[in-house]
Amino acid sequence: MLVDGSGLHAIRGVYRDGALVAAAVILDPVHYERQSAVAGPNLPDASSTAVLHAVLVDPNHRNQGLGRTLVELLERVVVEDEDWNKQHVVCRIHPKNRTGRALLTLLGYKRTNRFAVSHWFHQATYVRKLPIVRRQWAR
Ligand SMILES: CC(C)(COP(=O)(O)OP(=O)(O)OC[C@H]1O[C@@H](n2cnc3c(N)ncnc32)[C@H](O)[C@@H]1OP(=O)(O)O)[C@@H](O)C(=O)NCCC(=O)NCCS
Repeated sequence: MLVDGSGLHAIRGVYRDGALVAAAVILDPVHYERQSAVAGPNLPDASSTAVLHAVLVDPNHRNQGLGRTLVELLERVVVEDEDWNKQHVVCRIHPKNRTGRALLTLLGYKRTNRFAVSHWFHQATYVRKLPIVRRQWAR
């Protein structure tokens, strides 16, 4: 398992036979000047939101639950780690990205009516409200 990051971004990946076959990256938009990714009337405030920036699984290793597992791991980081303390995740994908849509929908992401124009194409914006975590404070 690849584990990297700081309070600004987090990366999780999977190695098989020494090769990286899947990876996912989540960013804090406040620090990466990506507030535009989460700006809009139907979107939560950037300060409470993380941006799922990339999820990529080697075609030879798809449909084995890697994409889902990596996104779930990153969601746990941003909701449980006090450096993040986020309540929402936003992800932008090409509207015709069937597998990306299926993955996000399975994980509880809702498509908003917001479209963003990236450098290359129009992207649909998906958002998920994360479950509330009740922290146990040490005495
Ligand atoms: C999207 C992507 C990350 C999915 O990775 P993956 O490891 O194959 O996905 P998983 O095996 O975890 O599948 C999770 C769910 O996604 C959906 N899904 C995945 N592949 C699918 C396919 N080919 N057709 C339909 N649904 C699919 C299913 O709902 C699946 O759940 P299930 O297995 O319980 O039916 C992978 O296809 C990929 O790297 N695509 C290119 C990059 C990309 O588009 N990223 C988008 C990020 S949101």
